[in-house]
Amino acid sequence: MRTLDIKGVTSVSKILVGERLENLASYLPVQRPVVITDTMVGELYENKFPECDIIKIPIGEKIKNLDTVEHVYEKLLGLEADRSAFIVGIGGGIVCDIAGYVASTYMRGLRFGFVSSTLLAQVDASVGGKNGVNFHGYKNMIGTFNQPEFVICDMGLLRTLPKREVLCGLSEIAKHAFIGDAAMCDYLDRHFEKALRLDEEVTGRLVYDSVVIKSAIVNKDEREKGERKKLNFGHTFGHAIEKTTDAFLHGEAISVGMVVAAQLSVKKGMLLPADFRRIKGLLSSLDLPITLEADKKKMVDAIRKDKKRMGDDIDFVLLEGIGKAVLRKISVRELEEVVFDL
Ligand SMILES: NC(=O)c1ccc[n+]([C@@H]2O[C@H](COP(=O)([O-])OP(=O)(O)OC[C@H]3O[C@@H](n4cnc5c(N)ncnc54)[C@H](O)[C@@H]3O)[C@@H](O)[C@H]2O)c1
Ligand SMILES: [Zn+2]
Repeated sequence: MRTLDIKGVTSVSKILVGERLENLASYLPVQRPVVITDTMVGELYENKFPECDIIKIPIGEKIKNLDTVEHVYEKLLGLEADRSAFIVGIGGGIVCDIAGYVASTYMRGLRFGFVSSTLLAQVDASVGGKNGVNFHGYKNMIGTFNQPEFVICDMGLLRTLPKREVLCGLSEIAKHAFIGDAAMCDYLDRHFEKALRLDEEVTGRLVYDSVVIKSAIVNKDEREKGERKKLNFGHTFGHAIEKTTDAFLHGEAISVGMVVAAQLSVKKGMLLPADFRRIKGLLSSLDLPITLEADKKKMVDAIRKDKKRMGDDIDFVLLEGIGKAVLRKISVRELEEVVFDL
């Protein structure tokens, strides 16, 4: 097991990579925590939970809203949870978002921790202190900045994860390598087959390195003013894909978005064509999509609509090399050209 301390503005979050769900009890400050989980994770892993009260939420992005939050508040009241209660979210990014938001707001805030059961939650959702829910169709519109006391990343739990969900995590891992760590990119090049097989040593190292990169960026900019935007590499176009088609999961959409952003970086003379080919090759080795058949015009229109109020320019993350992300303004027209070449 490897551990990492992430210092937030007001607290420290301990990330435990390679720890097991079975050992959760030893990190709890109370005898009987309240566990928030979803129906799927509950069914698979409830037998490994410590002695606790369990609140289950349904699955799917649609339930990440204030109705579900209210349902959890009601259950907490029913359990007579007071300010001494400790919340543990056990699940993927949705459970972590709901559990983190509930814990940050119920009775003005309770102590909490996570056991991340998806690769995406381990490398992204449970690091950085953002906890949010969707509102009126806007993603993560309502939320808090608040760090969990600990995050257990148990590689064993990933075995039951559907393959496409594993790939989504690998996509965010590749993103971290592209924006912040050339050596990690070499490692991924050499070990992508083991990563796809969820070899625990390789996955553990990739999760750890990802957390190091994300937390270093977040520490420089916890409340998202500039530096943190680098984490959006591939996401501008990725979000446009997600908005206009249901065919892609988030990680798949950002894989295509990263190819677009890398291509644009080459076009602007910032990235070597050989590095672009390497990025594309690695994503493709990871079984991630690198092109799309869908209606590209609709996607560019979606970006245009989003940016209407801000004029023609978009804040965009480009690469000056593998491991070196930079923020630049680009025009919708420049983006359009690259997308239609894809
Ligand atoms: N707060 C943040 O900083 C942040 C960052 C990135 C993503 N997110 C959020 O995270 C969410 C996506 O997270 P996700 O991809 O983990 O999705 P998820 O939580 O929906 O999990 C995906 C599916 O896998 C199931 N599952 C979870 N663990 C499993 C396991 N070990 N075995 C089998 N099935 C399992 C879940 O029940 C669910 O059906 C989005 O809502 C996104 O907005 C938040
Ligand atoms: Zn993402």
